[in-house]
Amino acid sequence: MVVSAREEASKIGLQILQNGGNAFDAMIATEMALAVCYPFAGNLGGGGFMVYRTNDGKTGSLDYREKAPLSASKTMYLDENGDPDSELSRVGSLAIGIPGTVAGMFKVNEKFGTLPMSELLQPSIDLANNGFEVTSGQADMLNRLQTTFLEVNKDSILYSRKFSSGDTVRNLALAKTLERISQNGISEFYGGQTGNVLVDFISKHGGIIGTEDLTKYEAVWRTPVKIAYKELNVISMPPPSSGGIVLGQILKMIESYDLNALDHNSSKYIQLLVEAERRAYADRSFYLGDPDFVSIPQDSLLSEEYLKQRMQDFSFETATHSEEIEHGEIIGIESDETTHYSIVDQYGNAIAATTTLNGAYGSKLFVNELGIFLNNEMDDFSAKPGVPNMFGLIGAEANSIAPEKRMLSSMTPTIVEKNGEFWMSVGTPGGSTIITSVLQTILNVYEFDMSMQEAVNAPRFHHQWLPDEIVFETKGFESALLDSLKIKKYKVIQQESKILGKVDAILKLPNGKLEGGADYRGDDTAVGF
Ligand code: DON
Repeated sequence: MVVSAREEASKIGLQILQNGGNAFDAMIATEMALAVCYPFAGNLGGGGFMVYRTNDGKTGSLDYREKAPLSASKTMYLDENGDPDSELSRVGSLAIGIPGTVAGMFKVNEKFGTLPMSELLQPSIDLANNGFEVTSGQADMLNRLQTTFLEVNKDSILYSRKFSSGDTVRNLALAKTLERISQNGISEFYGGQTGNVLVDFISKHGGIIGTEDLTKYEAVWRTPVKIAYKELNVISMPPPSSGGIVLGQILKMIESYDLNALDHNSSKYIQLLVEAERRAYADRSFYLGDPDFVSIPQDSLLSEEYLKQRMQDFSFETATHSEEIEHGEIIGIESDETTHYSIVDQYGNAIAATTTLNGAYGSKLFVNELGIFLNNEMDDFSAKPGVPNMFGLIGAEANSIAPEKRMLSSMTPTIVEKNGEFWMSVGTPGGSTIITSVLQTILNVYEFDMSMQEAVNAPRFHHQWLPDEIVFETKGFESALLDSLKIKKYKVIQQESKILGKVDAILKLPNGKLEGGADYRGDDTAVGF
């Protein structure tokens, strides 16, 4: 089964499985198809993370996150007064981190692939040549950004015309790029003609990514975070994503409560999750960053003793205020866009992958000659301690900018085992809200016996320490419930048309069959055989 943000991409992944390929082969085909038909987040010019569990129970994770260029510096986004210029880290050439996606796909193929890259890339080459159909959501988003695309690129681009639902987009330049990658391999992107075009383009637009940045880039296998929660074993992304650690901290802080007895999305249930989230995100802000650059006290942050003590001042009577909460003390420190897809194959291998350009269409810079958008991932660094990024997240020294450092992420591709067996593959976009959406989806199934699709559909809420507010989706929360939280001194935010994430997930049912959960909040689709 393949569940992704677009029907075309899910079907391309499925076809690879039906041809005898495994989940890793299908991953590569799906990711490349998303780069064609979901340019909002699918990419060659961005990066991502993948968590896997093979049919013999081995687990691991791949980091193909972007890196800061060699000539990046800690103060690169600060103006003469020392204040960050958020435009610079969000839009245009200085926002771009060194792309990791192509390196990631080759790394997966090298370790787990059973089919050649050429066979995995061909369906996406065909899709780019033949065209894909624009959905109504896609047309709205593209039309909204038309002026921005023209301004940032100082030129028209493939996506700067007016779109209507049902239009066909052929991206012939991307088809050629993929063909060259298929013929010449990874070095085509990180050094060949494609790499050269990329470097020239970025430099023409005033950016700082050079040839050496590309040749030095490597995707890295990392040991996933593993959290035991009741009968579950949650396997998730380690730093440079904060996802696994923060998810783990929250689960451990709430483990001793009988959640089912509190009732789903009841006032008390929301309070408990919010208070755990507040404390975990405060730790995220202080301790987490790229593990190749900073030492992260992961074991202490996830230790039961520490997390128990973190929740000691929690009471159902009234809200704790974020200004009273700082990161916890660890004693003796040890040495809007993204997309997620989940795949489980007929052999029992499972993957969860989240990939992104960061904001919608990334930096908005589009390389016409290559047919690709470039990311604005640099905004995930903390440009200045205490100043929020585009997701309102505040960071500290651990996530400051340095050459070749990876910016801290919230992406949380996650695989869950139940009683030692594969049980769920889950993840979502949503910036800082990713972790809490993954958390609620797992709890919805495990604690509240929902089906996979019900768990994905259920209304969600989010708290991230700062700003000190609970954000609710527009649908599914009554005003009486929100009032009950306001009385307990919670700040409650419910805006019009607010959604949190687009969760895509797969659940293994007790009879061995798979159930897909594809988020109705997007054009997401589950397909299987
Ligand atoms: O890595 C991160 O946490 C962000 N760059 C993810 C961005 C994202 O999810 C945007 N989607 N809504």
